[in-house]
Amino acid sequence: MASLSEIDKSRLPVHIAIIMDGNGRWAKEKGESRLFGHYNGVESVRNVVEGCAELGIGYLTLYAFSTENWGRPEDEVNGLMALMVETIRKEVPTLNRNNIKLTTIGNTSLLPDFARAELQEAIDLTQGNTGLTLIVALSYSSRWEMLQAVQQISKDVKNNLLQYDEITEQVFNRYLSTGPYPDPELMIRTSGEYRISNFLLYQLAYAELYFTETRWPDFRKQHLYEAILNYQKRERRFGKTGEQIRQETSSGIH
Ligand code: IPE
Ligand code: IPE
Ligand code: MG
Repeated sequence: MASLSEIDKSRLPVHIAIIMDGNGRWAKEKGESRLFGHYNGVESVRNVVEGCAELGIGYLTLYAFSTENWGRPEDEVNGLMALMVETIRKEVPTLNRNNIKLTTIGNTSLLPDFARAELQEAIDLTQGNTGLTLIVALSYSSRWEMLQAVQQISKDVKNNLLQYDEITEQVFNRYLSTGPYPDPELMIRTSGEYRISNFLLYQLAYAELYFTETRWPDFRKQHLYEAILNYQKRERRFGKTGEQIRQETSSGIH
């Protein structure tokens, strides 16, 4: 198992994104209901958030509920909403103690009123924190986000607030819900599924992808360290050759 001392603190990813998957199967394997898996996944969230804060990671995005997840059985959706509200309410003091700022991406207008209000309160209460930014992707899908951006851009062009030839990558980026954050450098998906499931399709363009068989409720800091160590062994080329990258690194250009 990886340990903290093996990690090179000068080469940490600034932004880590995680698809927290496998709660349902974890529970079923124990003869329990899917909701039992979600309840146990909360401890993993706590542990990993703490791990990221301790390391000094800047941003952590957790995929908690996708647009497509609204299509799950009503019991599961309701259970998940109640669990999220309860967790957020309980965790606010810990977030504040650890200087963690909570925020969300996604279509939260679809959330039940009680959940949206609770979430907004937690966001407001942690706004002043300056350490880790914890971004919860809730009722989120990347295609939804990109369509929203295109619609808003079209409106702004129509209203003369933006000219079509001003639409650069930077401008487009500003219209995404992730506009204020750097792109994730490391994306982790648990539970042995090798897909992106409508998560940050645009922002993950050059992310290093890390897949593990570990189910989310079993995932702990040590697994996070393992993923970071694996990331640190990779050469990120951004379309260039390995020789160019090594030359740039040795001459201090990044
Ligand atoms: C991830 O676990 C949590 C959510 C999608 C809300 P799953 O519920 O997808 O668990 P599996 O993939 O069915 O095991
Ligand atoms: C992705 O997991 C969404 C979240 C983890 C919140 P899913 O379990 O919903 O994804 P698929 O259906 O297996 O692709
Ligand atoms: Mg799943």
